[in-house]
Amino acid sequence: MARILITSAIPYINGIKHLGNLVGSQLPADLFARYNRALGHEVMFICATDEHGTPAELAAAKAGKPVEAYCAEMHEVQKELAAGFRLSFDHFGRSSSQRNHRLTQHFAGKLAENGLIREVSEKQVYSIDDGRFLPDRYIEGTCPNCGYDSARGDQCDNCTKQLDPTDLINPHSTISGSTNLEVRETKHLYLMQRSLRDKLEAWIDSKTDWPILTTSIAKKWLNDGDGLQDRGITRDLHWGIPVKKGDAPWPGMEGKVFYVWFDAPIEYIACTAEWADANGLGDDAWQRWWRTDKGAADVTYYQFMGKDNVPFHTLSFPATILGSGEPWKLVDYLKSFNYLNYDGGQFSTSRGRGVFMDQALQVLPADYWRWWLLSHAPESSDAEFTWENFQTSVNKDLADVLGNLVSRVTKFAKSKFGDTIPAGGSFGAQETALIADLGARLRDYEGFMAAMEVRKAAAELRAIWVIGNEYLQSAAPWSVVKTDPEQAQAMIRLALNLIRVYAVVSAPFIPDASAAMMAALNCDDWSWPHDTSAALRTLPAGHGFAVPENLFRKITDEERADWQSRFAGIRA
Ligand code: 2FM
Ligand code: ZN
Repeated sequence: MARILITSAIPYINGIKHLGNLVGSQLPADLFARYNRALGHEVMFICATDEHGTPAELAAAKAGKPVEAYCAEMHEVQKELAAGFRLSFDHFGRSSSQRNHRLTQHFAGKLAENGLIREVSEKQVYSIDDGRFLPDRYIEGTCPNCGYDSARGDQCDNCTKQLDPTDLINPHSTISGSTNLEVRETKHLYLMQRSLRDKLEAWIDSKTDWPILTTSIAKKWLNDGDGLQDRGITRDLHWGIPVKKGDAPWPGMEGKVFYVWFDAPIEYIACTAEWADANGLGDDAWQRWWRTDKGAADVTYYQFMGKDNVPFHTLSFPATILGSGEPWKLVDYLKSFNYLNYDGGQFSTSRGRGVFMDQALQVLPADYWRWWLLSHAPESSDAEFTWENFQTSVNKDLADVLGNLVSRVTKFAKSKFGDTIPAGGSFGAQETALIADLGARLRDYEGFMAAMEVRKAAAELRAIWVIGNEYLQSAAPWSVVKTDPEQAQAMIRLALNLIRVYAVVSAPFIPDASAAMMAALNCDDWSWPHDTSAALRTLPAGHGFAVPENLFRKITDEERADWQSRFAGIRA
């Protein structure tokens, strides 16, 4: 049994996430967590809300609420939606937790002790009309790198370059729109990433099995301009983790907080401590996932995120970990995703464009979305959601291929042989061929799942459903029963067992449908079909079963047209 630590990029607290956010991190991470649990591995799957910084402050101000209250409320909303999508986190924490406060201050203290923090008196943009400094998202302007006209002060969404507010061309305040800005002196802490450059490069170079998307982004920013830049890790904001050196005050830094991107990834660790606290466990329980001196040496750590998050996870966060000089676990495999677009444009939280998690669940249950999103995951390139494609995928893959098989088999079995699995006949050449074919495909499926090749895994799973249909088509128990009822019984025994295998292997993608299949089979044996032949003999003759409700319904053309127009505009 392996020990597998999985983190999904933690979503910003500022509102409900859209389906593009979901497919870029939380959903594929969930797929991988469920798969590894199904194999019997020990899994720790962590996610949280990213609650600090300008995104939180701006959203709270817009909602007219104090930022603490806003965050507490939105955390509950996001937690409920995650449950609605069946995201199986072991813990869904909060980056504003006391655990994260203490750990973030601890890391900053260690970095300072190791001479990796310098104090810089720097020039920051100050808005005269707003009476405050404008860090990060409080300022927007044109990206000096690519010319995108809505680049934020901390990063350009278009080219992913990490920016400083003073880099922007034609900047304006996002609070008031004011361009009445000036540059003022303020003191900040900088993480000396440059001194860690060689270590970081050697570490990245050692990751020869990472996806090209991940390493290319890491390499690009490692070698950007004259190399990796030192990064400001503090901000002139009210909301955030107060700047301290471990438990001690940091002279000169009073009233300042750590930059949201400094504390957010530390929350992966803090969240595991929150999990231990929530379960009444001691520090050993979470440290055995994170400290190589406390049992984490045999843990394999996987991160999932969208491509815009890669620089922070391949450079900044590892710089924090390496720079601490303490034996914390570094990521072993970083799976990153391109963007999902929406019907001819981009999904956009700020512009309210696309389908958001709450809206999606109002339209159809989680499995429908999980299947489409995962089978179209933006892996090798950006992908696009269209309602036509969604309709086709749901109707063909889920309703026609899988749903239809389950319903045909169970209905036929019940009408001809009653409420239990029939005992007659034995497996012949066709059944043997199916077992061999299924076995080969299952091994391919396992290979794709282990490699986090999400689309390929989905395609293979669909092919696994298809061969079941092809078998039934050619075996035709509905005809055979008229001439050789014993043989028809053997075929149906196999087919009912096939449904159990489908339930087990499909559960990482469509957990609710799998649970419904298992319930219909009156079975809770979720053991993985390592031995295909044995797996297809698991449910014995005489075992009771029922005909389940339709697993999936088809999307009509009218519904598709209705949704298409309902979600064509901008969310209020
Ligand atoms: O892009 C985002 O949604 C960020 N909130 C991700 C943070 S991931 C991590 F560092 F915690
Ligand atoms: Zn840019």
